[in-house]
Amino acid sequence: MKALPLPHKPRILCLVRDPAHWLLDNLADHFALCDEPAPGIEVVMTGGSEGIDAAMIDRLPDLKLIAVCAVGYDKVDVAYAQARGVAVTNTPDVLTDDTADTAIALMFAVYRRVPQYDRYLRDGRWVAEGAPPLTRKLTGQRIGILGLGRIGSAIARRCEPFAGEIAYHSRREVADAPYRYAPSAVALAASVDLLVVATTGGAATAGLVDRAVLDALGARGTLINIARGSVVDEGALVAALAEGRLGAAGLDVFANEPHVPTALLDMENVVLLPHQGSATVETRRAMADLAIANIEAFFAKKPLLSPVA
Ligand code: GLV
Ligand code: GLV
Repeated sequence: MKALPLPHKPRILCLVRDPAHWLLDNLADHFALCDEPAPGIEVVMTGGSEGIDAAMIDRLPDLKLIAVCAVGYDKVDVAYAQARGVAVTNTPDVLTDDTADTAIALMFAVYRRVPQYDRYLRDGRWVAEGAPPLTRKLTGQRIGILGLGRIGSAIARRCEPFAGEIAYHSRREVADAPYRYAPSAVALAASVDLLVVATTGGAATAGLVDRAVLDALGARGTLINIARGSVVDEGALVAALAEGRLGAAGLDVFANEPHVPTALLDMENVVLLPHQGSATVETRRAMADLAIANIEAFFAKKPLLSPVA
């Protein structure tokens, strides 16, 4: 009798840095995990921060699918992958709520100085110096959303109960959006108190929030960024904050993560988060499930669930 073939798990390369143990366990249940590129590997899983470049794609001659465990795939060389006939999937929708929640958390944190005043209390200053300076009222402020995609729309909906006005700028005016459309990023910034960056990353939006936009937002304005550090000219942002041309900022993303411009660390009008937009147990599991479902669809020769290319 002929020996039966050994049960075969497809090999995949996991490029996710610091993967959670349950992600690894979940992957290992389905696939044989490799941590080095090699011929024969058809699938890579990667994260939004890690992505995959052309050089790594070249080291994988049999690559067919890049499954990104993130909504943003700006660190993936999609054009090169496409030219090589490699499909790319991401994990949209499942992280929209958390990312929108993060934007709202930053708005309130900046306006009401939540982390600053937590530090004030812990440092014993309430006892020593009395109450800290008054903050500013967020309810009634005019909020501008740059990029009215899934995440931008979810932020806008969350702002409806407390915003004085909601406006947006997108490449195109969104049919049926119940918000004021501004024809440019500068026009939007000039007409709001808070500007929330919710665009995709990548070349098309790199440096979109430049000195002109920051100056239009102005000394009483607040910038919130939950999208990608690359959308904001970080040097111009630091200079605007340092020179008092911009009022405040709440930032979840940076140009060179995990490195943050040191000047920001000393600014009391800035609230900083280490890229926490989708970082809840529930959402990270949902993202992993969707990324794995895409890989399983690939091996089962079924349509991919969330292809981007
Ligand atoms: C996180 O930033 C993501 O793109 O999912
Ligand atoms: C796009 O990146 C979105 O989901 O808003």
